Formats: sequence, structure tokens, C-alpha cells
Amino acid sequence: MPARAIAPNVSTIPHHIAIVMDGNGRWATKRFLPRVAGHKKGVDALRACVTHCGERGVKVLTVFAFSSENWNRPPEEVSGLMELLAVALSREVPHLKGEGVRIQFVGDRSALSEKVRAGLLQAEAATASNTRLVFNVCFNYGGRWDIAQAAARLAARGEAITEQSIDESMALAHVPDPDLLIRTGGEKRLSNFLLWQAAYAELYFSDKLWPEFDAAALDAAIADYAQRERRFGKTSQQVQPVAKKAA
Ligand code: FPP
Repeated sequence: MPARAIAPNVSTIPHHIAIVMDGNGRWATKRFLPRVAGHKKGVDALRACVTHCGERGVKVLTVFAFSSENWNRPPEEVSGLMELLAVALSREVPHLKGEGVRIQFVGDRSALSEKVRAGLLQAEAATASNTRLVFNVCFNYGGRWDIAQAAARLAARGEAITEQSIDESMALAHVPDPDLLIRTGGEKRLSNFLLWQAAYAELYFSDKLWPEFDAAALDAAIADYAQRERRFGKTSQQVQPVAKKAA
């Protein structure tokens, strides 16, 4: 079993939060706006979420911004998302630097334009020395892609395939597994997000559409997480703190 996944988290604040930011399109459609307007509003919600995670002491935030399957959306929505990424990066990187946020992009960059790829590298380099919050943006990412690329890398190097070697070759090997995985927008599925890393994540589903998911909603998710008992395959008795066992 990968060592990173089993350290019990006794903190009430999740070290690592992962989010499927669903519902931008519905938010826009309800207002008779183009879908891209929902994604724009989604960037604002994401901005506030990053700040709030930093303030709450969350150390890693990982979001699903563009999935391997999102290429199948209408071309104007795909190009709108690419454009939004470029605009958001040029606007937000200085603020991220100020807030001690290190941004890292996770996913298959080979299909992205040279301009987008350069923007990602620039944002990563500009924030590389920050340590308060690691902000992973999954872009052209899929959980199956991640497992396959890890296995392919190991095979190319002639290395043994074990849980640990796969774990160390995954795209998120630089951070511990997520403790809390949030999905907004009312759907209850993973949609190919962090299939490997979410093995022990606590799942939290919100009916709020992503543009409406504000600081209070994030606090509610964190409060819900604080009530969960994380057993990592053990019994309830085994994971209770000693004081509680004696009571
Ligand atoms: C899912 O909502 C959301 C996405 C596919 C994109 C998420 C992106 C952002 C929040 C903006 C951040 C992105 C960048 C580029 C920085 P949906 O469109 O599937 O909503 P629906 O289910 O209501 O149609």
C-alpha cells in the first residue's frame, strides 16, 4: 500500500482538498447567458476558494479545470476555456505570488497550443518558491490517463510495477493524497478525476452550482469532513484517540 495514503489525518482541517467544479454551464443557462459566461464566473469562485483555503490552513488544493473528455464540447466552449485560462493566468499570477500560492499544472500538455504551454510554464516558474498553499490545476487531465502514463513510464524504464512505484510515477506524486474530495453541481460521480489518489478521500457532494460555491459553502464542507471518522481499512476502535477509548 502506498505509504503516502495511510497516515491517518487527525486534523479537522483537510491537508489536501480536491474539487470537481461542476455546474458552470447550468449557472449560465439559467441566466440566458452563453456557457462561457458560467466558466468566467467559475474563475471568480475559484479565485475566492484559493484565498479561503490559504486562510483556513489547507496546504494543497487540486481542481479539475479541463478534463481529457472536455475536448468533445462545442469548439467555441473549448476555445473559450483556453482563452479564459490565459486571461486568468496573466491577471492572477501576481496575486497568487502575494498569497504564497504555488501553482502547478497537472495533465497532458502535448495537446495544448504552444502559447498555452508557455503560459503554464511561466506561471509555475513565477510561483515556484511559494510554500503556503500548493494549487494544482488539472488541465487536459484524466484519472485513467494518469494511471496509464505512470505505467508507461515505469515500463519504459524497465522498472517493476508495484503500488509504490505507480504511486511515485503519478502526476500528483509531489503531494499527499486528497483528504476531502468535493463535487459541486448535484452530480455524484468522479468523472475520471483522481481515480488512483481518491482511494481514501472523504467524498462531499454539494447541490450548489460551482459559481455559487462560496467561502461559507467551503466551510460547510470542511465542517462535514471534521465529523468523519477516517479508518483507512482499520476498525473504529483502532483509530479512536486513546483518551476517547478510555472514556
Ligand atoms: C464543469 O461545469 C466545469 C468545467 C468543465 C470547467 C471548470 C472550469 C472553471 C471553473 C474555470 C477555471 C478554468 C480555467 C480555465 C482557469 P460544466 O460546464 O460541466 O457545467 P454544467 O454541468 O452545468 O454544464
